[in-house]
This record gives sequence, C-alpha cells and structure tokens, in this order.
Amino acid sequence: MKAACALGGVNLAGSLSGSFAPAFASSPSTLVAKPAHAQLAPAGYPKTPIWGFDGQVPGPEIRLMQGQRLTTVFENALPQASSIHWHGIRIDNGMDGVAGLTQEAVPPGEHFLYDFTVPDAGTYWYHSHNRTYEQLARGLGGPLIIEERTPPEVDEEIVLALDDWRLTEQATLHDSFDSLHDRAHAGRIGNWITVNGQGSWTRVVQRNARLRLRLINMANARVFELSAKSLSGWIVALDGMPLDQPEPLSSLTLAPAQRADLLVDVDGSPGAEVFLLSQERQGSFALATFVVSDDKRAHPLEAPAPLPANPATPLVGLEDARRVDLRMEGGARGRMASAQYKGETLDTRALAERGMAWALNGMAGMPDSPLAELQTGEPVRIILVNDTAWPHAMHVHGHHFQEILPDGGLGPLRDTILVHRTERREIAFMADNPGKWMMHCHMLGHAYSGMMTWFTVG
Ligand code: C2O
Ligand code: CU
Repeated sequence: MKAACALGGVNLAGSLSGSFAPAFASSPSTLVAKPAHAQLAPAGYPKTPIWGFDGQVPGPEIRLMQGQRLTTVFENALPQASSIHWHGIRIDNGMDGVAGLTQEAVPPGEHFLYDFTVPDAGTYWYHSHNRTYEQLARGLGGPLIIEERTPPEVDEEIVLALDDWRLTEQATLHDSFDSLHDRAHAGRIGNWITVNGQGSWTRVVQRNARLRLRLINMANARVFELSAKSLSGWIVALDGMPLDQPEPLSSLTLAPAQRADLLVDVDGSPGAEVFLLSQERQGSFALATFVVSDDKRAHPLEAPAPLPANPATPLVGLEDARRVDLRMEGGARGRMASAQYKGETLDTRALAERGMAWALNGMAGMPDSPLAELQTGEPVRIILVNDTAWPHAMHVHGHHFQEILPDGGLGPLRDTILVHRTERREIAFMADNPGKWMMHCHMLGHAYSGMMTWFTVG
C-alpha cells in the first residue's frame, strides 16, 4: 500500500478520456502451452517456473465480439499431454476440450485446431483440461471475454483474474500436486494470492468513474469471499450470463471457476485508496487497490440498465422434467465406507491407494456409463445432495443451468454452483446441446479424486 500512495499524485487525466473502446477480435492464431518463468512473488524473490499459455500467467486475454468465430491452433510445448477447455462457452461438443471424453489429450509436440463460434456475450475463461489439478495449478488458464454488441456505458473495463499459488520459500511451485491429504480436504489452497499474476495489483482511477470489473476465479480450490470498500455498484452478470436486474453489490462469493461482472462507481476523495477486498482467515486482504485521482465527473452516473440477454433456450416444462439425483460423498470427516471404482467395490482405504477420496452416486472417478442420457430439447432437474463435510463447486459443461430456489423461483443462469456441506440444491436446464458433457467439482483435486461424471445429449 505504500507503493500505491506514491502513485496517488500521478495525473492520468487524459488517459481515461472518451469511453472505453475494446479492441475486438484479438483472437490469437496460436496458443502455445509451454514452461516459462513469472514474477509471482514480490521483487527480491526469484521468478517462479510456471506453465502458461504463450508462457504467461494468466494466459493472454482472448477477446471476441458475440457471434464471432475463434480459430486457434493449440500447440503443446509441455512435457505432458494437454487440451484446452473453453469454460462456460456453449460450444460444439467436439471443441469442448475434455481430454478422454471429447478429444484425445494432445501429446507433447503435437497440436490441435480449435474452431468454434461464441453464442453468448460475457466473461469466460479457458484452461487446460487434462491433469487439470496440476496443469491449472502450474498456470494454464486465461481470460476469454466476449463483448456485447451494445456494451454498457463505462469509463474503463478491467479484467481481474484471481488466483492463488502454493509457493515454496524459493518461490517455486510446491510439488504437492498429487497430495491425497489436500484432495480429501479443501483441495490445493495456495499461500500466495495474485490478481492478473501480481501480488499487489494497483490501478489509478478517477473519482466517479464507472468501471466494469470482470472477475474470474482461476484458483484450483479457493473460494473468494469478496467485498468492496468505496466502490459502490451492481452485479450485472454471473458466470457470463446477465442478471435480469442489476443487483446492488454488497458481498459476493466467487467459487472456483465462477465469474462475476460488476459495474462500480469510484467513491473517495483524490489520493484515497479504494479496494476490492477478500475475506481471509487472517482478516480482509486488498485484492485490488484503486488509487483515486481527480474527478471524472461531478456525480456518479445513473444506475445501469441490465445487460442485453444472451440467446439461451428458455427453461420450460419443468413439471414433467426428467429428474436426476447426484449425491456427493466422501472426503475427510465424511461417512463414506466404500464406493465403486473401475467396476470394483472398494473400501475407503483401497480407494485412497488409488488416489480416490470422493464419490458421486457411489462411484469414484469417471464412470463408464453416463449419469443420464438426455434427449435434445428436454428439460432436466438435477438434485445435488452434498453428504460431505466440504463445499463443492459443481460445474456443468456445455449448458448454463438455473437453480430451482426453495420458493419455486428460478435463480440466475450459471455454469458452476457452490454447494455447501450438507446442503441439498436443485438445478435445471434444457438439454439443448448434443454431445457428451462432463459434470464435476471444480475444486480440481476433488474432481480428480472422484468427483467427476458425464451425461449425454442426443
Ligand atoms: Cu472449467 Cu471441466 O472445467
Ligand atoms: Cu469438491
């Protein structure tokens, strides 16, 4: 924060003039996954050896206009096979990037052509989808921003990729990727939090400027509990999808893989610092620091209108929808005694020897047969029961769902839902995208030690 004070006097008037005009179609012709080094730890520490898209953490921002086509050759320059998943994009199944389900993992030295159009505007992201618990922890994720054709009026747009890292004293990545202890507990929680790869992210902004913040949780397992100080505004989209009505921002939970779009106005007098805060066990922590400069305008702008809706299939026919039950079991302090793994029934000890700690419907690991075989156009309700002592961030591929709230109403469209321990939650969607789709916990150590399944739409 001391460094930020020094910036308080810098006059950036002029750099924010005019409204924010994004550069469209920064769709790269290649994305190369490769080992590199990044200065994650503070100056004075060495750079951290990472794996990154184009050698960067986060990977390069990809930005397209809604309806445009993304055509990129993925080149694998890693020592492991890999693939790219375009998280939250309602995509052709063959482009979903799930190694072992929708494509073969791309071996080291080989490449794969991703080519698809993006139907929905919003904040998305891309990440590796092979050994994700390790590959994402090493840095293989980046923002994917799809612009609305008529974007909201803002002075500046800022993408904030939140992540955490488990660093050693030498600022290398701790090699405990496979730790069964982590997997059976909260997952790989880091000891160093970054925003856009930086340990103390700071920006000078003008008073009463309106910012669009696009938040993406790229962490393996950390749930961020966010709040803002002297940034007042609204949540306008979750997981890429616009809310029907902007919701006043007070606090916001962002589970792994979740995104939120905020429109915020900068309060506070010139020289003051305003923050996006994360509630950590030790107290609140400034994730992003904004140093207030002179006035953008005398008063904040009017409350925003909702963002234009995306063309998702409306959810209808819920009364007769197919019902699918999904029960989560296992983990530390759980009561799972046994589960099926590759056709055998094993006790928890034998499961642990195979790296398994969790089960979905009594099955650990990716089952041979799908959870459900859905027909194109049919509505489905999935009852999620968390019979474990841990929260889980359940993600559905290829579709956005809505929660069926206890009062029967429908929650916002999302692709990842945080289900707290002992909770029962119900989600529903129209199965409108043919293919084989994964559903898994996005606490990636949980996924790879049991919490994965898949369904078909045909
Ligand atoms: Cu963000 Cu199966 O992934
Ligand atoms: Cu989980």
